[in-house]
This record gives sequence, structure tokens and C-alpha cells, in this order.
Amino acid sequence: MEHIYHKIAEEILENSISVNDQIIDLETVVALREEATTDYENGAFEKARIGKGIGKQRIAEIRGDQVRWLDKNRATQAQLTYWKWIDGLRNYLSEFFRIHLERTELHFAYYPKGAFYSRHLDQFKEHSDRIFSIILYLNTEWKPGDGGELRAYEKDDSFTDYPPLGGRLIIFRSDVVEHEVLEAHAPRISVTGWIRRDKLIY
Ligand code: OGA
Ligand code: MN
Repeated sequence: MEHIYHKIAEEILENSISVNDQIIDLETVVALREEATTDYENGAFEKARIGKGIGKQRIAEIRGDQVRWLDKNRATQAQLTYWKWIDGLRNYLSEFFRIHLERTELHFAYYPKGAFYSRHLDQFKEHSDRIFSIILYLNTEWKPGDGGELRAYEKDDSFTDYPPLGGRLIIFRSDVVEHEVLEAHAPRISVTGWIRRDKLIY
């Protein structure tokens, strides 16, 4: 595990983003996909919102996905497997970058056909507690034409499009990498999360 964590850390240091395939075993990816699909069909997802607190609003023109937050205390086996892997990464990145990284938050995200998420940064203006964004894609059947690519921008506005392939794990710096999700032409599912530096306050 250490060497993949190290590769990710080096790539983030160099490029602010790291893209990795087939790191999480397929069995876990498939189980997560089934759990997300079942939860979605049971109406357990909520429309995603933008911003935080009072400024929090739903703007369908900006963001059309639905989410279900994961709770570590009620996690399934597959969710725990993934959560532990991410916590291992969190500890590694914390030492590597010499920053305090307190916790990880994760949610399933479901983009129905036609949904997209306009260009944005993951750090809120008034908060800077999200340090790294991490997305594990669960689209084991993805094919060209299904859309939903992640478009990641560089400082000079050039960009790279990444298909949301099942098992693909993308990690980037929440404070610098502007990105968007292109329109999905088929349902698009992921586990999206953030490695944060703040404590959870109930
Ligand atoms: C987000 C986001 C990107 C993706 O949820 O903030 O930008 O590829 N997701 O799902
Ligand atoms: Mn984002």
C-alpha cells in the first residue's frame, strides 16, 4: 500500500492531481455500486447543494447530482474497506505534506442522465477545511458516449478530460484544481469525498 500512497503524494506535489486505475479491488467497487444503486432506488439520496450554512442553496443549473452521505458507524463491509484505504492515504499525505489531516468525509453521488456539475473549486470561499478531493468511480460499464467525464483545468485554462471508469480513483488539491463534470448521457455513480483538516462538530 505504501508505494501507491507514495506515488499519489508525489503526483499531487508535482501536478496537484493524481489519477489511478484498479487500485481498489473490483469486488469492492462492484459492491459499492450495488449499494449506491439500491439506496438510490429506495429514495435515500438527496439533491446536492452548493455552499454551506445560510449560503447553501440548490441551483439545478449548476449541479444536477444527488448524494447520500456515508456514516462510518453504519458502514457496510465494502464501505469500510474503502474508508480504511482512504484513511491510510490520509495519514500518509499528512506526514508527506506535514499538515494536520483530521478526517475523511464521503458520499455516494448519482448523476441521472442529463445531469452535470459546472466548473468550480471544492473549497468554499469562507471555509478552507477541504484539503484533498477524492473520487472513486463505480461505472463498471462505462463506454465512450456515456459522458460524465471529469474535466480538470490547469492554471492556464487548458484541461484534461477523464472518463469516470469503474475503479478509477482521482485525487486532487481542493484549493487549486478547478473542475467540472460534463453532462452524463447514462447514469453516473461515484463515491466522492474530501480529506479535511477540521474536526467534526455535532
Ligand atoms: C464534486 C465534484 C467530480 C466528479 O462533487 O464536487 O466535482 O467527477 N465531483 O464526480
Ligand atoms: Mn467538485
